[in-house]
Amino acid sequence: MAKRRRLEDRMRRVLHAFNYREVQTPTFEELELFTAKSGPGIRDELYAFKDKSGRDLALRPELTAPVMRFYFHDLKTEAKPLRLFYFGPCFRYDRPQAGRYREFWQLGVELVGDASAEAHAELLWLVLRVFQAAGLNDLELRVGHLAILRNRLDRLGFPQPDQGPLMRLIDKKDLEGLRKALEAKAPNAAVQEFLRLFETSRVDQLRLEPDAGTARRARDHIEAVLNHLGAFGADLARVRFDPTIARGLDYYTGLVFELDCPALGAQKQLLGGGEYDLSSVFEAPPVACTGFALGFDRTLVALEETAHALPAGERVDAYVASLAVTGTAPAQRVANALRDLDLRVELDLSARGAKKVLQRAAQLRARTAVLVGEREVERGVAAIKNLDTGEQLEAPLAEVGQRITPWLAAP
Ligand code: HAM
Repeated sequence: MAKRRRLEDRMRRVLHAFNYREVQTPTFEELELFTAKSGPGIRDELYAFKDKSGRDLALRPELTAPVMRFYFHDLKTEAKPLRLFYFGPCFRYDRPQAGRYREFWQLGVELVGDASAEAHAELLWLVLRVFQAAGLNDLELRVGHLAILRNRLDRLGFPQPDQGPLMRLIDKKDLEGLRKALEAKAPNAAVQEFLRLFETSRVDQLRLEPDAGTARRARDHIEAVLNHLGAFGADLARVRFDPTIARGLDYYTGLVFELDCPALGAQKQLLGGGEYDLSSVFEAPPVACTGFALGFDRTLVALEETAHALPAGERVDAYVASLAVTGTAPAQRVANALRDLDLRVELDLSARGAKKVLQRAAQLRARTAVLVGEREVERGVAAIKNLDTGEQLEAPLAEVGQRITPWLAAP
């Protein structure tokens, strides 16, 4: 938990710096919220149940639909763009394996009311900053646009309503299955040409038909996003164009992106997101929305698997012990004063000898020890020791905090 908290704190600080505001929604929702638009993939993975009144409910598999419910019910009139973030548990009835759990945590953001290239670039910049703060750098961010895929499938003779199963094959990178499904309708050469998309990694490699209007606009948008992202200071060597991102959820409409940690095996995807539209679920007019969510547990595994492991455990700032037959009262007062300074203090209540006390302090990896013995009590002082440097001195009982805080400031 110490590692999780530390990672959470680092990420929260970045979200705070970008002025994202936290929201929280219930763990369970009406089943329909997820089946309406998230697609069949999610339906198979849902923990769905009836409550005592026979209502169909589900544990949330993700937070975008719940946050949109919150938005359309309560936040619609807020000034735009609206920047929201969340951090909470999600549940999917997946087959558990390394990096894939039935209960896992997502940290995510939703940007409502601005779908400009500048806004999308800032969102991607936020992704990079979040992972930089986490201490993970060996990552690859891939950016694509559904209009490119959909336009191509359309040309192969698969109009939008028939594209669902194909998009799922693309999402799973099942190229053989995809080839078969496409060849059922389209000529071989056209299928070959389509499959070349999987080898495209730069925007200028994308071949567009003169009349591929939506795809052209999508390509121009991505180009603009990448330009703005570079202007923010991003290392574009870590960002790759990938026109084959299909995403597993059905509500995406435009720009899509995924972030992988290649050091992880099959479950290397740490984050996914894009532009989406859930307004029809709430019978509301469309509003521009883009967001992402990262798998918090997976990110932690990635940190542990790579060289950037988080330092273990938190250290005790002060181990305070009474050595006196006079009882623990003076040590308690010292501990209270240190805790009032927001220090992490463990108080030894066993009145054992100095040697034992120092052993215990070392075990705890305490940074300082404060010993209040009988002679010290008589003189109103405590013996304090910097356990990192070995430095030792006496301080008046009322000044212990003042004396040890400079020691604690050292890294
Ligand atoms: P998603 O790609 O389904 O997107 O999930 C986001 C991330 O959650 C994944 O990249 C992965 O790291 C993590 N994740 C998913 N399933 C599991 C699991 N079973 N165990 C551990 N980690 C998992 C969404 O959920 C969208 N709501 C993201 C979004 C926000 N799009 C727009 N706004």
